[in-house]
Amino acid sequence: MTDPPFERWIESLEKRHLAALSFPEVRKGLQALSSLYVERRGRIGSGAVFDGAGKRAAFALFFGPLHYLTVREIVSSVGASSPPPRRIVDLGCGTGAAGAAWAVSAGGVPELSGVERSGWAASEARATYADLGLRGRATSGDLLGERLPAAEGGILLGWVVNELESAARDALLPRLLAAAARGARVLVVEPIASRPVPWWPAWTDAFTRAGGREDLWRFPSSLPPLLALFDKAAGLDHRVLTARSLWLPGAR
Ligand SMILES: C[S@@+](CC[C@H](N)C(=O)[O-])C[C@H]1O[C@@H](n2cnc3c(N)ncnc32)[C@H](O)[C@@H]1O
Repeated sequence: MTDPPFERWIESLEKRHLAALSFPEVRKGLQALSSLYVERRGRIGSGAVFDGAGKRAAFALFFGPLHYLTVREIVSSVGASSPPPRRIVDLGCGTGAAGAAWAVSAGGVPELSGVERSGWAASEARATYADLGLRGRATSGDLLGERLPAAEGGILLGWVVNELESAARDALLPRLLAAAARGARVLVVEPIASRPVPWWPAWTDAFTRAGGREDLWRFPSSLPPLLALFDKAAGLDHRVLTARSLWLPGAR
């Protein structure tokens, strides 16, 4: 699939993040990040993900585009962009990748509102929206404080619900269901591994009862050359993109 905005964004990421850091420095950051997400998950909440230039660059340059490519496929598979939402609220937007994928897939129509705990990631999300020619803003704050849209709105949680404390997660679920009952479309994306998402069966039950669906995805990927190089150098393998999702189409 050709996606000129995506290709321009990758060029801009490469210029920004490889200006001050070498390939081996970013590769090291990538290995540290993936070890945090897979083996040392307890340190994620303390902000360890963003505590070094190499990790920040790897987050923006590698995981951002990977999440973009994955969400682009999911959005197309569940029909999330027809009709295009007028606004997408991207909760825990990170560098803005997941929400941007949905907005680009919807023809650039939706206005994005990203909210993100890390000020660095929120500013990176603003750069993502600008690089991709999208309208939107990203602010730093707690996603639980964000007002949720209703009819014609989309709500996205990309790889973030697994980072919430259980009390926050329990508070969020009824709010998402209520927003969907008012007409918002809700998309939750998480890793395919089950260990980070023990709450998944309960959320699946709630989403399917409300008329939604659960999916496990495996998409063949064609990574941009730089990402493929990082993938190999860091000993990872993203020739297939995997994810799980929950989708609620919103009451009409
Ligand atoms: C794995 S990253 C995913 C980022 C982005 N959604 C994506 O798909 O690329 C999870 C993000 O959620 C943010 N986050 C975690 N808890 C949050 C909270 N309570 N409020 C706002 N952001 C939060 C983290 O700072 C991190 O940037």
